[in-house]
Amino acid sequence: DWTPNAFVEETVEALQQKIGDDKVVLGLSGGVDSSVAAMLLHKAIGKNLYCIFVNNGLLRKNEFTDVLEQYKGMGLNVKGVDASARFLDALAGLSDPEQKRKAIGRVFIEVFDDEAHQIQGVSWLAQGTIYPDVIESVSATGGPSATIKSHHNVGGLPDFMKLKIVEPLKALFKDEVRRVGASMGMAKDLLGRHPFPGPGLAIRILGDITPEKVAILQEVDAVFIGELKKSGLYDKVWQAGAILLPVNSVGVMGDERTYEKCVALRAVESTDGMTADWVNLPYEFLQKVSNNIINKVKGVNRVVYDISSKPPATIEWE
Ligand code: XMP
Repeated sequence: DWTPNAFVEETVEALQQKIGDDKVVLGLSGGVDSSVAAMLLHKAIGKNLYCIFVNNGLLRKNEFTDVLEQYKGMGLNVKGVDASARFLDALAGLSDPEQKRKAIGRVFIEVFDDEAHQIQGVSWLAQGTIYPDVIESVSATGGPSATIKSHHNVGGLPDFMKLKIVEPLKALFKDEVRRVGASMGMAKDLLGRHPFPGPGLAIRILGDITPEKVAILQEVDAVFIGELKKSGLYDKVWQAGAILLPVNSVGVMGDERTYEKCVALRAVESTDGMTADWVNLPYEFLQKVSNNIINKVKGVNRVVYDISSKPPATIEWE
């Protein structure tokens, strides 16, 4: 019978056998999978695990500093790299979703490769790949690996991608990953986090990205997620977020006519992200969130709620 405790024990031992005194580099995303993979490796090899947490400038409000502190509190050997400006520069003027994804993927590889080069004698790349990722990458035609290839088939692979790969969660499903994390004493809020896309808010800002738009969406998202947590709804939802629409609409504030941004709220139930149903959030809750957003976030005068399921809609709008 599979138990998280036995898994941790066996995996730590196997990792020690496999890696010995070698050095390992791992990219943390703030998500459950990479965090649990890091904890397992930390237990096995301690300071020989070098974690890198990149701020692409497209994370949730305060996420980079909060999560970096949390990682340090867990004892991880982690370096936070704020590359926001580099990502935002690369995104300037791009509106097409796939071009945005490609630009982000390319800059991430450059930043990560630079950082990996600074670790003397590193020989392994650890990844938080879980079983559903393995299946998906077999069937998918245009996942992140395709992005990596399209950029790097000219100059060859970046050096960190030539490292030996270690993927301690490769046989697990998401719920098992969470149980493994819990059995190592990892914080509930970290293990219960909603999935968040690698390209972050870039694919929730429809059209081109500017620092101002990112700041507006971070505020809107923080109100929505904060209220979900306050009202006990966060854990009942598989994934939630806000989308900044590329339209202005007319509103009225006091005696003034306004012409400002519109945001959409999205909350879905799902087990694996492949299919999803929109969540029937209480009207009173939506009313409160809408009021708070419009009152607190300058530049937004209208809030709508997305009532589309997947398929045919996707979870993200881009
Ligand atoms: P869709 O929008 O395809 O999303 O229904 C399904 C799940 O995948 C996430 N997602 C991504 N994750 N890079 C990622 O790492 C991406 O480019 C990407 N696009 C979508 C999405 O947030 C949802 O959980």
